Amino acid sequence: MDLETQRKWDGAVAGYDLMNGFGPERRWAPWKRRLFSAMDGNILFLAIGTGQDIQFFPPGQHITAIDISPRMLEQARPRADRYDGALELRHLDVHDLDYPDATFDQVFTSCTFCSVPRPVDGLRRLARVLKPGGTIGMFEHTGSRFFPFGLMLDLMTPLTRRFGPELNRDTPANVQRAGFVNLSVEPVYLDVVKIIRARRPG
Ligand SMILES: C[S@@+](CC[C@H](N)C(=O)[O-])C[C@H]1O[C@@H](n2cnc3c(N)ncnc32)[C@H](O)[C@@H]1O
Repeated sequence: MDLETQRKWDGAVAGYDLMNGFGPERRWAPWKRRLFSAMDGNILFLAIGTGQDIQFFPPGQHITAIDISPRMLEQARPRADRYDGALELRHLDVHDLDYPDATFDQVFTSCTFCSVPRPVDGLRRLARVLKPGGTIGMFEHTGSRFFPFGLMLDLMTPLTRRFGPELNRDTPANVQRAGFVNLSVEPVYLDVVKIIRARRPG
């Protein structure tokens, strides 16, 4: 368990829902609902945070949702309890996934690979527990190719990484580096917020 990362995200709980809840969640709701509407089979969700994404999960699914921060999970618990389906919360670092190979049909992430400290390694761990041909669906903010957004995100990242995410990552490239195939990238907002889909080979 990466205790430094755990402490960072435990520390981000206060005010998290206030900052991310109302505005962003309302803005992104249709996109997230559409991404998660593809949920089917045995699903791994990384990382659940305070559970704001649960409202967008289709009912009746079988989902294991993990997070490195026990304090985030504490906040997520009441939302998980209200979910109309099977939703298990686990305190787990993506780098320490203890599931057998090829356990899950699908993996979903939401604003996560700006935060996982070693993203390519984290993505490889996810690929291991996905069945061959299994899919990953991601809602992620990333760096941007467009001026001035890319530059602004580069300048902000040294500050934001101290208490939260890195804003300038090239997550689509990281997904490919981790060995996923059939990459598709759907722009949600400028070149900054994206839906990324890919598949484990096989
Ligand atoms: C920006 S928050 C996003 C939370 C939630 N998905 C949302 O959209 O509100 C990033 C989350 O990633 C989790 N996280 C960071 N590194 C992790 C790791 N190595 N393993 C599991 N979870 C991790 C943090 O604890 C935090 O809850």
